Amino acid sequence: MKKTFLTVPLIALSLFASAQQKTNPVIDQKVKALLAKMTLAEKVGQMAQITMDVLTNGKDRYSSYEPITLNQQQLEHALIKYKVGSVLNTANNRARTREVWYQIINKIQETGKGRLNIPVLYGIDAIHGATYTADATMFPQQIGQAATRNRDLVYKGAEITAYETRASAIPWNFSPVLDLSPDPRFPRQWETFGEDPYLIAELGLQMVKGFEGNNIADPYRVASCIKHFLGYQVATSGKDRTPAYIPDHVLRDYHLPPFKAAIAAGAHSIMINSGIINGVPVHANYQLLTKLLREELGFKGLIVTDWGDIENLHTRDRVAKDHKEAIMLAINAGIDMSMIAYDYERFCDNLIALVKEGKVKESRINDAVTHILTLKYQLGLFEQPVHDFKQYPKFGSKEFEQAAYQTAAESITLLKNVKSILPLKKGTKLLVTGPNANSMRTLNGGWTYSWQGEKVEEFAAKYHTILEAITQKTGQDNVTFVEGVSYKMEGKYFEEFENGIDHAIKAAKDADAIVLCLGENSYTESPGNLSDLYISDLQTKLALQLAATGKPIILVLNEGRPRLISKFEPQMAAVIQTYLPGNYGGDALADIIFGEVNPSGKLPYNYPKFPNSLVGYSHKPSENREVMQGVYNYDADYNPQYEFGFGLSYTTFKFDNLKLSAEKIKADQELIVSVEVSNTGSREGKEVVELYLSDLYASLTPDVKRLRGFEKINLKPGEKQTITFKLNKKDFSFTNLHHITVVEPGEFKVQIGNLSKNFRVE
Ligand code: BGC
Repeated sequence: MKKTFLTVPLIALSLFASAQQKTNPVIDQKVKALLAKMTLAEKVGQMAQITMDVLTNGKDRYSSYEPITLNQQQLEHALIKYKVGSVLNTANNRARTREVWYQIINKIQETGKGRLNIPVLYGIDAIHGATYTADATMFPQQIGQAATRNRDLVYKGAEITAYETRASAIPWNFSPVLDLSPDPRFPRQWETFGEDPYLIAELGLQMVKGFEGNNIADPYRVASCIKHFLGYQVATSGKDRTPAYIPDHVLRDYHLPPFKAAIAAGAHSIMINSGIINGVPVHANYQLLTKLLREELGFKGLIVTDWGDIENLHTRDRVAKDHKEAIMLAINAGIDMSMIAYDYERFCDNLIALVKEGKVKESRINDAVTHILTLKYQLGLFEQPVHDFKQYPKFGSKEFEQAAYQTAAESITLLKNVKSILPLKKGTKLLVTGPNANSMRTLNGGWTYSWQGEKVEEFAAKYHTILEAITQKTGQDNVTFVEGVSYKMEGKYFEEFENGIDHAIKAAKDADAIVLCLGENSYTESPGNLSDLYISDLQTKLALQLAATGKPIILVLNEGRPRLISKFEPQMAAVIQTYLPGNYGGDALADIIFGEVNPSGKLPYNYPKFPNSLVGYSHKPSENREVMQGVYNYDADYNPQYEFGFGLSYTTFKFDNLKLSAEKIKADQELIVSVEVSNTGSREGKEVVELYLSDLYASLTPDVKRLRGFEKINLKPGEKQTITFKLNKKDFSFTNLHHITVVEPGEFKVQIGNLSKNFRVE
């Protein structure tokens, strides 16, 4: 065992966050002056956020009549009487045109400014493009963006999303998701950058920069809202908003780094995890919200709850005996703004009473409102709360479309290609089949034109499904389509029905190859909870029966999480993971199938093979035990279907000359690692060079390996490039049981491709 010799107190590490949000003395002064003029009711109103349905004409608060119109009385009740400072979401869970957004938000701003001229802060989930704006450019969901390993594409996607969100009169975006998501059972894994803290941190940083630019007052930028702080996606049950048990050192080493990096880059707001960690709902956790986030990380931006989560402290988690106590717990824990959604009167009245009773200090209210007003000033909303949609000529342009297509093309991950069956020659007679073959909805997933994605077909008819894109490429005469299995489009979206499996088998007889498109229907959050990770029985049946025809099958996966395919994977000739590639995913896939694009995506998670083996790539040594002989033939081997980082190309790459700058270094020295990469195949291609580091022995059982660097490069046939990485203290360290970041002396191993070298830290 190694001896601890270097300790870096966390307080010192938090200095890394010093580059974060710069304070602007002019804005600080304005906020102070404004705050001094505000009554308690005005301050509390700023802390309230409601959903748009509350303000519209409709039969009740929870829905609206179409076409939507604002109700003057409701507007005045919420924005003038209760002085509500923020609105979110669309009405009736439906995307709107830019014109409608402009009219609605203009009107909200006009009515809402009140006696002090304070603009309303409008927020939305534009998570892979402007979710709720008709004709916006839809990118692959974050999980696919992670597979690109391309920082520039992630930046560009966020920049375009910011532009199109602001073109919809909305300045605040509840994105990116920086949750670590190692659990394929969780219904929101596709909203993340996957299972690795470094990958999430690197790409999260790009997304924040792409949204925010250098100045969020820029009419082409938005304020980002990093979420969901902290440890949201590791619930024990694998189901949304259920308890998680996370030791502090795990929270710090795995869940915290992406948030820390985004805060250091200046992210302006943060949303809190709806879940419960170690028995405490995060919304009531003073240690996490105030001690860790505010004091240790030095976060200066706005802290907003997730949907209805103060209410949940009473109604769901029962840590508060009534709504009033729930409000007290959350605000005292450090919440600035409550995403109440509906019952704002209850929130405002109770919070005012709590202040009067001395149960919430007015200084806490002032602190919260300071963060809110500061963001409104930083966004330039006091000067111009809405920008005219006509000032955004690039909205939905070819240029934006091309960026979304490119991201889709680089996300798609080739997982198997027996005897190089791919790329296919044009003219190959194809049977295209499966429930995901002819669906724009499944290509996009949730948060697309609506929360669950069920309205996609209505808004995305002009884009190409997989079937349409393949047909366009190779000609109608070469394609037969039989769906075989279909999703139910109403009610429980996961339910499927058989829709001609026999017919598909018959059609297979006349085909040279089968493109079998399987996966999931769209979902998010609790409606996406799942009890069986295997891909559905009907899809399995379709796959097995088609395999029995002996025709080669190209399995196309289109899914939010890796559903198990081990029952039929051995019989597939090729496997392609598309994740949720967005509106241009069909086109990008067809270009890969026919070889016009060389695939370059890499898995952002371990694709599991069995339901009881959901172990991540960075697992512990004990999770990879050889099967013992004889009676002790236990099944403890590490056996993913495909490993994190895996992804094939139509060309081949070779790694040579792995070099380290030293064999021994001191903990605070840098180690420089270089490697030569060459394209040894016959076509141009992109390769992701990934550096993994292993701490061989440590006082807490170390991970088998951890990703510590990656670069994506493009090489022509015969071309060679040297890639250099720098490793330092933060790569060698971990948090011990006393919450101290330590580097322990000893041996480490660097691995790139099939090469590895050891060095010592002294
Ligand atoms: C989700 C958040 C989202 C919020 C606002 C919640 O249900 O958990 O991710 O930002 O709704 O739409």
